[in-house]
Amino acid sequence: MSISVVYWSGTGNTQAMAEAIGEGIESAGAQANVISVDQANVDVLAEEDVFALGCSAMGAEELEESEMEPFVAELEGKVSGKKILLFGSYGWGDGEWMRSWVERMTAAGAKMAEPEGVIANETPGSDDLDACKAAGAKLVD
Ligand SMILES: Cc1cc2nc3c(=O)[nH]c(=O)nc-3n(C[C@H](O)[C@H](O)[C@H](O)COP(=O)(O)O)c2cc1C
Repeated sequence: MSISVVYWSGTGNTQAMAEAIGEGIESAGAQANVISVDQANVDVLAEEDVFALGCSAMGAEELEESEMEPFVAELEGKVSGKKILLFGSYGWGDGEWMRSWVERMTAAGAKMAEPEGVIANETPGSDDLDACKAAGAKLVD
């Protein structure tokens, strides 16, 4: 079983979370396919029943607008019944972008692997990375 972890990251914070999620997936005995969104294909991803999506808080509590937002918008119609782990890093906000993202994907019919996603303030610390690894491992049945 291979589980994709697709992310957008401007300065590497969300990327570090993605890599930790990938480690968690592999520690639980599955293969992880950790890729940035510019390398991902919506139709290929939509064939998986379980996957992770990551993006830092950008704009004003939004997903990154040039790559991640269009990818998620296209994916949205294809996530019904799927188990998705949302994650990302944020800065000065209170996590609003993640609450909105969870709500959006839930409304599209996806089941959240973590009800509030996994978020980290700026550079993920070791506790954050441990939470990412644990969430990754939980994606493997
Ligand atoms: C253009 C821009 C917009 C941002 N908007 C927000 C925001 O709305 N809320 C927030 O909490 N942080 C915001 N941030 C901070 C980033 O989310 C934060 O630095 C994060 O750690 C970046 O992670 P990354 O390296 O994975 O992109 C913004 C940063 C940039 C550069």
